[in-house]
Amino acid sequence: MFQDRTILKKILPALLIGGLLLVGSAHAQDAATGKALFQTNCATCHAIHKTVQGPALAHVEDRWPDKKELHAWIRNNAQVLASGFEYAVNLKKEYNNVAMNVFASFTDKDIDDILAYIRSEQDKEPAPAPGVQPGTPTGGGGSNNSLLFGIMTMVLAVVALILLQVNSNLRKLTDDKEGVRRGEPVPFYRNKAYIALIVLVLFLLGGYYLVQGAIGLGRQQGYQPVQPIFYSHKVHAGVNQISCLYCHSFATTGKHANIPSVNVCMNCHMNINQYSGTAGPLYREDGTEVNGTAEIEKLYAYAGWDAKTKTYTGKGKPVEWIRIHNLPDHVFFSHAQHTNAGKVQCQTCHGPIQQMDEVHQFAPLSMGWCVNCHRTTKVQFASNGFYSIYERFHKDMNDHKIDSVTVQMIGGTECQKCHY
Ligand code: HEC
Ligand code: HEC
Ligand code: HEC
Ligand code: HEC
Ligand code: HEC
Ligand code: HEC
Repeated sequence: MFQDRTILKKILPALLIGGLLLVGSAHAQDAATGKALFQTNCATCHAIHKTVQGPALAHVEDRWPDKKELHAWIRNNAQVLASGFEYAVNLKKEYNNVAMNVFASFTDKDIDDILAYIRSEQDKEPAPAPGVQPGTPTGGGGSNNSLLFGIMTMVLAVVALILLQVNSNLRKLTDDKEGVRRGEPVPFYRNKAYIALIVLVLFLLGGYYLVQGAIGLGRQQGYQPVQPIFYSHKVHAGVNQISCLYCHSFATTGKHANIPSVNVCMNCHMNINQYSGTAGPLYREDGTEVNGTAEIEKLYAYAGWDAKTKTYTGKGKPVEWIRIHNLPDHVFFSHAQHTNAGKVQCQTCHGPIQQMDEVHQFAPLSMGWCVNCHRTTKVQFASNGFYSIYERFHKDMNDHKIDSVTVQMIGGTECQKCHY
């Protein structure tokens, strides 16, 4: 009996820790759902630590005089404004009467999840710019979860070991009672079966992480290097609505979309020599403010342009933009095929570029990403000259045997289409 108690003492803390971890992961789950909701619905206008179109949302719950009103605001801000709620009315004035979207279909749980996500992020340091050292890819998300699962697995393994010990102790007790004699028991850390098990587990874990790491080599979703000039797509493609093709003119005709040369910039910047703030103040990812006019002067230095005399000095040099998107050499990818024949929007692959001050890599650029899109995307088959060669599909469509053609059906998942 005495022995059983000490064993209980050993097991209980382990069980407690396991339980706590489970509860912790349930909270993390709320924040995770909240994060997904936030990113699809709010991230275009809000960030946690910096002002985008709307206010930074860190500690928003402390700012609001009334939690119910905050809920009501997120679901339908128009209603709260109509009710004359003073805090909200003032806030809207402060933000130049920009209207926030209405999310009438949100449940209370949705809103709580989003708030849980904000709470979970607000005390963290704002993420440092991932590309401070050019060339360092940022790790993808998800590692937090695997760490949690790892710890839980370890805890469960420890519990299992302890239970095995209990079992063998109990057997020893009954053996003693019945007078059965046995050799001195081997302690578990010298027991061959345990050692073999542990080696096997370590081998499998090690192998798994090695393969994951190897596949992820060179992948860099989220990569956002600091560029030589703080050139904002939000200012140009967003607020000033300059077409993507004005600068990336080969994106519909060539394999590569080109990065514009300084001449293209100077078409406009011979005359535009200061940033008057049409798109509001500009911030780097780390929160420091950028002086747009000083950035235009950097452009002049690269272009070799003397703004006073309005002449070129001839001492220009090309801007060394840091490349963000980069497929491995063994992959063939053509922009023209996608933007022209496939009619895929730039934003489908590059995300809301026109809202980014600094470009980051939006898509993983993994093989799964390409192939999944090819499986599910229907090509715009009807009256698209590129597809006139697929007579059989046209016939089947006319005969109503099929109602659409996916990229996969025209061979978009064959290895040699993408691999040299
Ligand atoms: C179209 C842009 C836009 C979208 C999308 C948007 N908001 Fe807003 N939000 C704003 C603006 C702008 C304000 C400031 C008040 C105003 O001008 O109406 C604001 C204010 C707020 C406030 C009050 C902040 C404070 O400092 O008190 C909260 C909370 C908020 N938004 C939450 C959300 C959530 C949650 C979502 C997503 C479900 C969301 N917003 C989506 C633009 C947006
Ligand atoms: C006024 C010129 C200009 C316009 C307009 C413009 N861009 Fe850019 N774009 C640039 C420059 C310069 C860079 C390189 C610096 C950088 O990455 O921010 C760039 C970089 C990019 C990159 C990252 C390239 C890399 O290194 O992998 C993408 C993707 C991109 N632009 C897409 C777009 C899309 C989509 C639009 C339209 C919504 C657009 N651009 C409009 C000038 C422009
Ligand atoms: C079609 C015209 C046009 C072209 C081409 C153009 N810009 Fe601009 N640029 C603008 C306008 C308009 C503004 C905003 C001026 C303001 O708000 O006062 C601006 C602002 C800027 C600013 C200050 C704001 C910011 O983004 O940091 C910089 C720096 C800049 N441009 C760099 C460039 C570079 C580099 C290129 C070439 C890749 C370029 N621009 C091409 C029209 C252009
Ligand atoms: C089907 C997805 C897809 C679409 C649509 C797409 N891109 Fe890209 N883009 C990519 C990929 C993948 C790369 C990396 C290419 C590489 O490394 O060879 C890339 C790279 C770029 C680059 C860096 C230079 C280069 O070509 O490597 C720019 C600039 C760019 N894209 C702009 C655009 C613009 C502008 C549009 C819209 C007209 C567009 N992209 C549409 C997937 C896409
Ligand atoms: C957003 C969806 C989307 C993504 C992501 C995407 N593609 Fe495509 N892809 C298409 C569409 C649509 C077509 C059909 C265009 C055509 O007929 O040429 C296509 C066609 C192709 C073709 C020509 C296939 C054929 O049978 O002629 C190749 C090669 C290709 N894509 C490579 C890639 C690679 C490599 C990637 C990833 C780096 C990628 N694609 C990512 C939508 C996508
Ligand atoms: C739609 C385009 C596409 C098709 C079809 C495709 N791949 Fe890939 N593949 C890619 C891309 C993009 C990468 C690079 C992924 C990265 O950088 O992580 C890749 C990477 C790989 C790699 C390197 C390992 C890795 O995951 O990075 C191997 C091996 C590979 N592909 C084999 C194949 C085989 C075999 C097939 C035919 C069954 C095939 N691929 C079909 C786009 C494609």
